[in-house]
Amino acid sequence: MQVLQNISLKSYNTFGIAVTAKYFCEVTSIANLKEALSLKEYPTKFILSGGSNMLLTSDINALVIYINIKGITIDKEDEDHVTLKIMAGENWHDMVLWTLKNNYGGLENMSLIPGKVGTSPIQNIGAYGVELKDNFVKCLTINTSTLEEHTFNKKACEFGYRDSFFKQEGKGKHIITAVFLKLTKKNHTLNTSYGSIEEELEKKQITNPTIKDVSNAVIAIRQSKLPDPKELGNSGSFFKNPIITKKDFIHFSSKHPEAPYYKISEEEYKIPAGWLIEQSGFKGKRFGDAGVHTKQALVLVNYDNASGEEIIQLASKIIKTVQTKFNIYIVPEVNIIK
Ligand code: EPU
Repeated sequence: MQVLQNISLKSYNTFGIAVTAKYFCEVTSIANLKEALSLKEYPTKFILSGGSNMLLTSDINALVIYINIKGITIDKEDEDHVTLKIMAGENWHDMVLWTLKNNYGGLENMSLIPGKVGTSPIQNIGAYGVELKDNFVKCLTINTSTLEEHTFNKKACEFGYRDSFFKQEGKGKHIITAVFLKLTKKNHTLNTSYGSIEEELEKKQITNPTIKDVSNAVIAIRQSKLPDPKELGNSGSFFKNPIITKKDFIHFSSKHPEAPYYKISEEEYKIPAGWLIEQSGFKGKRFGDAGVHTKQALVLVNYDNASGEEIIQLASKIIKTVQTKFNIYIVPEVNIIK
């Protein structure tokens, strides 16, 4: 394992922010990872995976450990189900395509999500009505200070909407090395109720969809709304969709009856932040190299050389305007690294 110096991280984060890592090493095995974590000459370590849910704001004066541990194996299998053990460094979407090729169902709605498997539990990734937790069995971690290996079952992960133990009390304390997902081998349960999936299938005149058809529909929808990080730097949704109380919702919807919303429980309503941002006039706006995507206002983009600070300034402007206009406070979903 080689430690390199002064490495640009521009191609290691999907926002394409050009900051430098003072020290950098790539780990391809658990043994490598433990070795890197125990290097005493670099007291501060920074763990980097797919770089798809972070906003870097300054050079990293630490040892950046890039997790690139690969492998997909079958852990358990019966007639109906298979449980896969997927190592952290596998690319999420390539893994989804692999499951579809093997006719394993469950992940099709989560096609084309950027990032790697190891970080998927941190924010319980989700799309089109399905979240990671729906197929999740357990994950393996390494404690960053003791280097001990741990197993976290679903309950221990405390999954919530774009949230988990690893984003809360467990933040920075564990590195996820493998994720176990249970998928169906037959009689797949399709989840096509999310509006635009049905529309997409109808457009293609598919009445009896397969998991591959659902995946293709999701890919088409995502490609029509979300920018490809290889072409335009971004981190997917920059903000979470805010959840407001019933009392606030009644007040909000009396003023904005046209606003989309999802009822989460008797007491909670989720309002799409993309709608709030669009109504605040930001959709498609550009400030220098930082901008709001033209097709989905929830996504902030780096046109080329925006700094992390410029993106933060834009985000702050959006937060303030949405709050003044709607009295709703939106918060970033992306991990901001100061
Ligand atoms: N909307 C607007 N204007 C916009 C964007 C959205 O009015 O510019 C409205 C849409 O018309 C729709 C509603 O907002 O009525 C919801 O939009 P969409 O279906 O695009 O989903 P979202 O709530 O904006 C969430 C996730 C996405 C995920 C999609 C589909 C969060 C923070 N984002 O977005 O996840 O792909 O649903 O399930 O929950 C990500 O996390 O990076 C991400 C892309």
